[in-house]
Amino acid sequence: MPTTAKTTPIAHVAGPLPGPKSKALIDRWRKAEADTTGYQASVVWDRAAGVVVTDVDGNRYIDWTSGVLVTNIGHCHPKLVAAVRDAAGKLINNYECPTPARVVAAERLVAALPNHLDKVFFLTTGSEATEACGRIMKRKTGCFEIIGFHGGFHGRTYTAASVGGMAGPKKGYGPSMPGVIRVPFPYPYRSPVGDDPAKLIDYCMTRLEEEVRASSTGSLAGIMVEPYLGAAGFIFPPDGYLPQLEAWCRSKGILFTLDEVQSSYGRTGKMWAMEWENLTPDLVAIGKGIGNGVPTSAVAARSDVIGCLGKGELSSTVGGNPVSSAAVVAILDVMEEEKLADNALKMGAFMMKRLKETQQKSRHLGDVRGRGLVMGLELVRDKKTREPAADLTKRLIDTCAANGLLIGSVGIYGNVVRVAPPLCITKDEAAESCDLMERSLLQLEK
Ligand SMILES: Cc1ncc(COP(=O)(O)O)c(C=O)c1O
Repeated sequence: MPTTAKTTPIAHVAGPLPGPKSKALIDRWRKAEADTTGYQASVVWDRAAGVVVTDVDGNRYIDWTSGVLVTNIGHCHPKLVAAVRDAAGKLINNYECPTPARVVAAERLVAALPNHLDKVFFLTTGSEATEACGRIMKRKTGCFEIIGFHGGFHGRTYTAASVGGMAGPKKGYGPSMPGVIRVPFPYPYRSPVGDDPAKLIDYCMTRLEEEVRASSTGSLAGIMVEPYLGAAGFIFPPDGYLPQLEAWCRSKGILFTLDEVQSSYGRTGKMWAMEWENLTPDLVAIGKGIGNGVPTSAVAARSDVIGCLGKGELSSTVGGNPVSSAAVVAILDVMEEEKLADNALKMGAFMMKRLKETQQKSRHLGDVRGRGLVMGLELVRDKKTREPAADLTKRLIDTCAANGLLIGSVGIYGNVVRVAPPLCITKDEAAESCDLMERSLLQLEK
């Protein structure tokens, strides 16, 4: 890992945001494209390399967003750019037929997965992958009930939004899918049973039993769960919870689906988050990092599970297209060659230590949590009451941008800062970005 002596700061913002070119583009954008997306800093990205983004006014930022946990190998990695350019010059689209790139992509993805997952199928978005997992669970078991989690997020399509436990994707759209049973996920910072992780696990397992006893009609197909809750605020369950959940599924004879759309591709310090506790899910939804911005997703499965589908039952217009397939292969090459999961672990530990120091100095940084290079900073009005501070989080997004750090927010209460830089971040970049965060937070607290 390169750790060159730092001479000049990487991040550099020349004036107030938005800069003049950014402002003009944002004004034009708002006239033409519907304003439906979440809160972001007023920055118009022009180009990016590694972890550094440059906007149209020439300002430079360190990126803690990776888009939204997408560009794990770094922005515009030269090998990915070359692979995409080359593929696009030969063949951009075909439908439902093999190409050399698609065959190799499937082989390589299967080889990168834990052994029991021996089949994949390519789709386009994370929602499409979780949607497909929901359908496969029903098709395989002939049952229709799916267990999801409070705070879970699996996308905005019907099954995905229905199984998810965030109100946002559902509000205003009438009844969601029948047959979803939603149960609490362990949230250690806001545990209803105190600080003991074992008690929290027991509480959640008991609630699971109770909810199923009260709501199931006897038609349970399976569970869909994220290894950590992403959109709900990077909430990591205590060690031991997910294996218990898997064992519970086995005891009931139902399927265990892991949504690794955001937790995979080295993000937590291992290629797959499931590796931390040797989980053996029947189905896995994969997205984001698999394409690093080239729209691609996949379902990985045991062949006896996905084998329930007959010909024509799972397909996607541009899933597995030659450009995406070339991207899948190039990204796997880079992940392995540059040992990015290992770097995520090392840099994650370094940044976690540094951010915990910031927590000591801050009145509002209530919790710093995470694993590898996915960390959440939970902001509260008061560390004792833990009242969420969503307004402060929004202001922090702008202050950080003005200081040269791009962040985003998540959380059930909208009060969690995402710390999720590309996995290629160097020690200098990690150190400078943590300094920028500390400076921005303490500036706001003055
Ligand atoms: C865990 C998880 N699943 C599914 C999705 C949906 O992915 P997409 O936005 O690509 O449809 C997301 C997106 O943030 C996610 O974090």
